[in-house]
Amino acid sequence: MSAVDKTVRLRRLRRTDALRRVVRETRLDSAQFLWPLFVRSGQGIRTPIGSMPGVFQTSVDELLKDAQRAVDARIGGILLFGIPDDKDATGSSAWDPDGPVAEAVRAVKREYPQLLVVTDVCMCEYTDHGHCGLLTPEGDVDNDATLDLLAREAVAHAEAGADIIAPSDMMDHRIGHLRAALDAAGYAHIPIMSYAAKYASAFYGPFREAAESTPSFGDRRSYQMDPANAREALREVRQDVQEGADILMVKPAGTYLDIIAAVKQDTGLPLAAYQVSGEYSMIKAAAERGWIDGERAMMESLVAIARAGADLIITYFALEASAVLARR
Ligand code: PBG
Repeated sequence: MSAVDKTVRLRRLRRTDALRRVVRETRLDSAQFLWPLFVRSGQGIRTPIGSMPGVFQTSVDELLKDAQRAVDARIGGILLFGIPDDKDATGSSAWDPDGPVAEAVRAVKREYPQLLVVTDVCMCEYTDHGHCGLLTPEGDVDNDATLDLLAREAVAHAEAGADIIAPSDMMDHRIGHLRAALDAAGYAHIPIMSYAAKYASAFYGPFREAAESTPSFGDRRSYQMDPANAREALREVRQDVQEGADILMVKPAGTYLDIIAAVKQDTGLPLAAYQVSGEYSMIKAAAERGWIDGERAMMESLVAIARAGADLIITYFALEASAVLARR
């Protein structure tokens, strides 16, 4: 009575590449990739990041070459992180109109007006203690006092010409605060991409070398999320939607595919996922040792993120993956 139906043979549609191609459920497109870039002041600088083969800190003139590559590869856009010359307790260089991010945005928009430029808004690259906000005398991160600093940074980026503002600090109520500040400054048309569900992750390790943003004491667990929590991610996301986020983000991506899928189901907003530095470095390192096929692992990791529900993928593989897609 429970005889197997022998007419159903799932292997039929897997037999040739042509068959597999027409029934493929998820397709990647270079337009969905955002490429993170690290910019610092100076000239002719292209410093490799030891733990991230193929990733560099560059000065603005060198960054323009990467912008050209992004345009040529027709990727969705670039995401800028700044490494300032000076750090202090309040991270005041974050809103410097002549800081590396503002300078880079102006230069890229001048040369490539059609290239989408997203800027990371956070304090950790700019504070001497490396935390994502102002500290209280006790050494806690002061949520509400940090909001105004983030707003100054966001407005400075918008003034420079950023197309999207992406706050990654994880302070409560920052989306509403940034929305109000941008609107008041005449930037009601600039979207906010919220790092809505950002976890306190070990996979950010290589990024902290790239961005020189390792906290000098403690960790980020009092503001970034506990990796064990999924329901809480939906609370974070719903709050950001209510406060006016335009695009939501889950971060990291590969170890949080369930969160991506859940957020996708819960909201109708465009959803981004950030394939973070550690995810990139692990694939690069294993491939360098000949333990995995780096190109296949790269494409598999990206299609998995898209399959889970991400519309946009922030990835250090943006250029390399677009090159693979272009020859398919
Ligand atoms: C800053 C920020 C971090 C990342 C993006 N923005 C680091 C952190 O929170 O410690 C990580 C990105 C990556 O690992 O590629 N708040």
